[in-house]
Amino acid sequence: MLTLSQVYKSPSAFLCALLAAGVSLADVRPGSSCDPLCKSVPGSAGWPSTETWASLNESTGGRLLRPSPPGAVCHSGQPTFDNATCRGVQAGWTSYEFHDADPVSVDWNQYSNDSCLPDPHYPCSGEGYPVFVINATTAEHVKLGVDFAREHHIRLIVKSSGHDFIGRSIAPNSLSIWTHHMTGLQTHEGFQPKSCKVTIDGGAVTAGAGSAMAELYGALGSINRTVIGGGGKTVSLGGYLTGAGHSLLSSRYGLATDQVLEMEVVTPKGEILTINECSHQDLFWAMRGGGGSTFAIMTSVTVKTFPSPRLACGDIIVATDANSFAAKSVPDLAAYVVSQFPDLGDAGMSGYSYILRDFPNPYDPSSGSVAGFYASMCIQDTQDTTEFLTLWNPIFKHINETWPGFSIVPNLANFTSFSGWYAVNYDKSTTGTDSYVGSRLLDKKALTSNVTALAAALDRLSSGGTATAFLVSGKGVMDAKPRGGGDAVNPAWRKAYVHSTFGVEFEPLNASAKAEALQKINYMLEPMRELAPDMGAYMNEANPEEPDWQHQFWGDHYGRLVEIKRDVDPQDVLWCTPCVGNERWKEHDGMLCRV
Ligand SMILES: Cc1cc2nc3c(=O)[nH]c(=O)nc-3n(C[C@H](O)[C@H](O)[C@H](O)COP(=O)(O)OP(=O)(O)OC[C@H]3O[C@@H](n4cnc5c(N)ncnc54)[C@H](O)[C@@H]3O)c2cc1C
Ligand SMILES: *[C@@H]1O[C@H](CO)[C@@H](O)[C@H](O)[C@H]1NC(C)=O
Ligand SMILES: *[C@@H]1O[C@H](CO)[C@@H](O)[C@H](O)[C@H]1NC(C)=O
Ligand SMILES: *[C@@H]1O[C@H](CO)[C@@H](O)[C@H](O)[C@H]1NC(C)=O
Ligand SMILES: *[C@@H]1O[C@H](CO)[C@@H](O)[C@H](O)[C@H]1NC(C)=O
Ligand SMILES: *[C@@H]1O[C@H](CO)[C@@H](O)[C@H](O)[C@H]1NC(C)=O
Ligand SMILES: *[C@@H]1O[C@H](CO)[C@@H](O)[C@H](O)[C@H]1NC(C)=O
Ligand SMILES: *[C@@H]1O[C@H](CO)[C@@H](O)[C@H](O)[C@H]1NC(C)=O
Ligand SMILES: *[C@@H]1O[C@H](CO)[C@@H](O)[C@H](O)[C@H]1NC(C)=O
Ligand SMILES: *[C@@H]1O[C@H](CO)[C@@H](O)[C@H](O)[C@H]1NC(C)=O
Repeated sequence: MLTLSQVYKSPSAFLCALLAAGVSLADVRPGSSCDPLCKSVPGSAGWPSTETWASLNESTGGRLLRPSPPGAVCHSGQPTFDNATCRGVQAGWTSYEFHDADPVSVDWNQYSNDSCLPDPHYPCSGEGYPVFVINATTAEHVKLGVDFAREHHIRLIVKSSGHDFIGRSIAPNSLSIWTHHMTGLQTHEGFQPKSCKVTIDGGAVTAGAGSAMAELYGALGSINRTVIGGGGKTVSLGGYLTGAGHSLLSSRYGLATDQVLEMEVVTPKGEILTINECSHQDLFWAMRGGGGSTFAIMTSVTVKTFPSPRLACGDIIVATDANSFAAKSVPDLAAYVVSQFPDLGDAGMSGYSYILRDFPNPYDPSSGSVAGFYASMCIQDTQDTTEFLTLWNPIFKHINETWPGFSIVPNLANFTSFSGWYAVNYDKSTTGTDSYVGSRLLDKKALTSNVTALAAALDRLSSGGTATAFLVSGKGVMDAKPRGGGDAVNPAWRKAYVHSTFGVEFEPLNASAKAEALQKINYMLEPMRELAPDMGAYMNEANPEEPDWQHQFWGDHYGRLVEIKRDVDPQDVLWCTPCVGNERWKEHDGMLCRV
């Protein structure tokens, strides 16, 4: 308990914290203004009794879960221990699907505080996981959870897929609203937002907040339409849309959240609202880019759909032996190619690219490691791959002349629809480790004004082995016309062509390895920040300790976002980090207490 005194400046605050933790002191009256000082934890005076939890369960129709940590099946002291099941969990742990399907599991181990990894050599307490979960399928279930958490001062979180890179979908001592089963969709031809006089022409779809990309693409593909969506099959609308959402198609149509026409949400005060350009405009603005689990819990959303485009694509690999002298030129070569992205983007090219320093040959892993550049890109509304090549040929020619040690292999392919492309090109990465990512959004100036400096920045960024340069922004994002005159998306997106990322893995249960990884991320990002000082980072694919994250994630929108947060959630029922307006609380040893 004594450690708490380090957190609290005033003695009375300290006493309140003791009370909240269940210590009974004769001279401090319970139920006083002490209540909201710390959120309740199991065993503390404010934590609801078993009967009270049971009544929450009853009111939800029996949808309250008290899940074991998924890794517990591997630990002989645990009630769920079972060797056979353990082997399945271990096999599933690296897949996004495993964490998506589990009520509490998340992708990146450090966010559960490594508290129950599926490996008997590590400890298992489960103290990093939520205590209770509501398996919500309706807005009413969500409301019951929100009201309960607010009334009992319990930390409240939202988990959909658990794919969050910054750890917002898990917390110790919390009640979690699990939105994964809020699915189902309905398509529209023309859409009238509730209480609005306008009808918005064109196709739209209303989908449950837990809907995953693959479900949406599948359903819409059958009518030859698509949404602006991302690469991961099980990434869900909840976190993706509230964070911005980039796509192969966003450089043409804008970010995913720019396509939102309406949302149904449950607010921290417990209201079930339909929000759009005519109703609750401030909240509608904030929910589109202001970040997940901060302003309200989305239960369903209506977004525009688009005709599924035909695509002419290519997987381009520009490679040399990783141990060769030529390999030293990779940062220069990569900087040259990336400096062409604004022009390529303006000509209709989009997609994903990777700077490879030392990587198994993607076409023949047995032939050793390669270094170079790999791009998987497309142009739209055509299946003519010669058009695609025409845009790349001048780049190939320059590479040939300048860096003769590299071979250039363009593997061309064409598709009759976005779904056809996606079936082959969905995100095939894996998860289940302790790791952080770093992010920088890059504008035309950063990409073109000093290619030497760009090379140095890419050198640093890819020094761990690989870094990405996603050409997923540009004209469509700059010219986007979100409903209601704007949304809360980081203004840096409106100038960006490229989103650049990389990751750093570290050893579990090693605090210094974790701290080192975060320092390394910052070190690796530093030249990119200098190159693009007035840009920012993409919250959904960034590191949680990005310095000045308030402005790096939201730029000039931060002030207005905090005002809206205070208005919709004066009691901080929803709290996460790094999230808008979270400055009034601090985490300490699994407790969340007022600063
Ligand atoms: C394999 C993979 C591929 C990816 N590809 C892309 C991509 O192409 N483009 C892109 O932009 N991003 C991409 N991402 C990043 C993705 O946008 C984020 O991981 C995002 O946070 C996922 O949202 P989620 O709802 O699936 O995850 P969760 O971890 O469940 O949720 C993320 C955040 O949103 C909150 N949240 C979830 N549902 C709701 C809701 N209904 N209401 C309010 N808050 C909610 C959670 O509390 C948390 O704060 C990818 C991620 C992965 C793992
Ligand atoms: C909630 O009720 C259902 C059935 O009514 C029961 O199966 C479940 O175990 C209960 N949940 C908790 C956490 O007790
Ligand atoms: C579980 O499996 C491990 C390794 O396969 C083995 O060493 C251990 O004895 C098994 N435990 C039980 C209880 O079966
Ligand atoms: C959650 O609810 C869904 C939909 O009713 C159901 O299919 C699923 O089995 C539930 N999951 C758990 C763990 O109870
Ligand atoms: C899908 O729509 C595109 C136009 O975007 C069209 O070229 C294509 O033929 C359509 N495909 C099918 C199967 O209808
Ligand atoms: C498109 O793809 C088809 C089948 O893969 C191929 O036969 C055709 O030549 C391609 N067209 C172009 C223009 O690349
Ligand atoms: C690059 O050079 C190789 C031979 O070294 C040649 O076959 C290829 O056509 C050249 N590519 C371009 C685009 O100039
Ligand atoms: C470009 O960047 C390099 C390396 O950072 C620097 O030395 C050089 O002065 C810059 N050139 C210009 C024209 O700014
Ligand atoms: C923890 O990580 C640090 C830094 O990477 C390393 O030096 C140290 O040996 C690790 N400690 C253990 C116990 O593995
Ligand atoms: C995380 O685990 C460490 C021990 O590995 C412990 O000291 C720390 O208090 C835990 N943090 C939380 C938030 O529970």
